Amino acid sequence: MADGSLEVGAHLDACLARAVSHNPALQDTAAVVAAIAGAAITISEVIGRGALGGDLAAAGSQNSDGDVQKALDVIAHQRVTEALQAAPVAEVASEEADDVMRLNPGAPLAVAIDPLDGSSNIGVNMAVGTIFGIRPAVQDAGNPIASFTTPGTVQLAAGFVTYGPATALVLTLGEGTQVYVLDRAERAFRLTHAALDVPAAAKEYAINASNARHWEGPIKAFIEDCLRGAEGPRDKDYNMRWLGSLVADAQRVLMRGGVFLYPGDQRKGYAQGRLRLLYEAAPIAMLMEQAGAGATDGERRILDIEAAGIHERVPLVFGSTEEVACVAKYYDGRN
Ligand code: AHG
Ligand code: MN
Ligand code: MN
Ligand code: MN
Repeated sequence: MADGSLEVGAHLDACLARAVSHNPALQDTAAVVAAIAGAAITISEVIGRGALGGDLAAAGSQNSDGDVQKALDVIAHQRVTEALQAAPVAEVASEEADDVMRLNPGAPLAVAIDPLDGSSNIGVNMAVGTIFGIRPAVQDAGNPIASFTTPGTVQLAAGFVTYGPATALVLTLGEGTQVYVLDRAERAFRLTHAALDVPAAAKEYAINASNARHWEGPIKAFIEDCLRGAEGPRDKDYNMRWLGSLVADAQRVLMRGGVFLYPGDQRKGYAQGRLRLLYEAAPIAMLMEQAGAGATDGERRILDIEAAGIHERVPLVFGSTEEVACVAKYYDGRN
């Protein structure tokens, strides 16, 4: 049974226990999931009290990726890392910390975390979230970030929490992708979807269209063909959504299909796009593949890509397999 430091609900604990009974090696991973879920409950309560108050959106200093840290970024980072300190975690790579944080020397696991995703949505009551990937810790005196330079296929578990109309935990331990919703009165996560199955085809795409003038050829051609609708080579009329919060867009794609694109573009510093490999793309990619969807950098499978630095960016395309495969065709002119 997961021994997370906080009660996170009989449903989630039962599902974690089932995963551990199938694979006893997941015992420590289950404890880390329970710890993060417990921290997410407190973050959800902090947001519930202050999402519109403005204090949570108060700007602070810049983080290592150049983002202006909002108060809630820092609060979420503190809540999660406190919870991980009490779990079998050796190291943490967080968006809100310049370098790898050393927690429990010799512990078996390492965690990559985006404590608060979608920070631009804080203060306007739009969905934000927490993203995490759990992987084996690697000791290597010659490489202080050795735990994080292995490809995403090593991840033992991945998930995100969306703080939206409901607080939902989307989770995989390598046996499909589940969804749990927070029962606020019980402070417990209840299973609502035991095995997500993303439709292979879809008619909805998500991209920040204000960057169109900066896109490179293949993405420009793909989106132009989406815009041509049924008259174009794709012979279907698309809808568009862009929520400015990766977790919210990812949850929609997991629940009803579609394709999300944050490509590299010609703006200074955006050659590899805006999203980070370790604590955004790789966890989302594991969740997508476990739900029958795909995730690439436009061409390469995200889970095969190795990070050279903990804040390294990567172009990200994920969602319905036919759409993700179609994007790849535009990269080698097969479209
Ligand atoms: P974060 O708030 O963790 O820095 O991530 C924000 C990301 C992601 O949530 C979202 O998809 C993307 O930024 C939106 O980028 P644009 O503002 O460039 O559209
Ligand atoms: Mn940020
Ligand atoms: Mn983010
Ligand atoms: Mn963030």
